[in-house]
Amino acid sequence: MRLDKLLSNLKYGTRNEIKKLVKQGYVKVNGEVVTDSGVHVDEIHDEIIIMNEVINYRPYIYLMMNKPQGYISATYDNYHETVLDLLDEEYLRYDLFPCGRLDIDTEGLIILTNDGKFAHQIMHPKKDIYKTYYVEVDQPLSQTDKDIFLRGLTILDGKDEPFTTKPAYLEVLSPYKATISIAEGKFHQVKRMFQALGKQVTYLKRIKIGKLKLDDALELGEYRELTETELALLLENDDK
Ligand code: URA
Repeated sequence: MRLDKLLSNLKYGTRNEIKKLVKQGYVKVNGEVVTDSGVHVDEIHDEIIIMNEVINYRPYIYLMMNKPQGYISATYDNYHETVLDLLDEEYLRYDLFPCGRLDIDTEGLIILTNDGKFAHQIMHPKKDIYKTYYVEVDQPLSQTDKDIFLRGLTILDGKDEPFTTKPAYLEVLSPYKATISIAEGKFHQVKRMFQALGKQVTYLKRIKIGKLKLDDALELGEYRELTETELALLLENDDK
């Protein structure tokens, strides 16, 4: 990759600004000052230093975050903070975006990446990747609720079109607490499914996507990179 392209991708400045920095001797490649910003570098193996900062370039980044309430799952919002506001500068150099959405008042597992193909693979409804939520409701849960969710029920999607849910798996933990696994992700789907049973969701947290569990060690608002094993797990089908 051209040096100026690499550095501008990493948001060290515009191509022109980078050209100046390079000319002024602020950039070293493998220990040698370079003065031509158009030079080609091996972004993975070369040691590139800009203003004494070593660049650790990776084409793709995959993060697991424990999303807190009050944050929007988007890259930009006029009114609210977004999940990107929780990231350190190191990660803001990459154009990360959240894979799929959690409501502003939903907590839990969200993946951030800059790999569009990967995001498509895990979020596409046809892939049938089950997402598991821990849920608290205002009315007692019963065996009948479990059966209804398993059969599928008709709710409105985000555009008020009726829509029949795929089999969903409810595990009742106590009268007001459960986990539910659903394969789709329509607008407010979990809340709407419980609403259809006359119950309001009072707390919602995503705890699993496919076989990938939210790391218990992550406090709300914390995140970390996924391991190779976890990445592979995400692409494996499927485990309710
Ligand atoms: N279902 C919901 O209702 N809200 C979410 O944030 C996720 C699933």
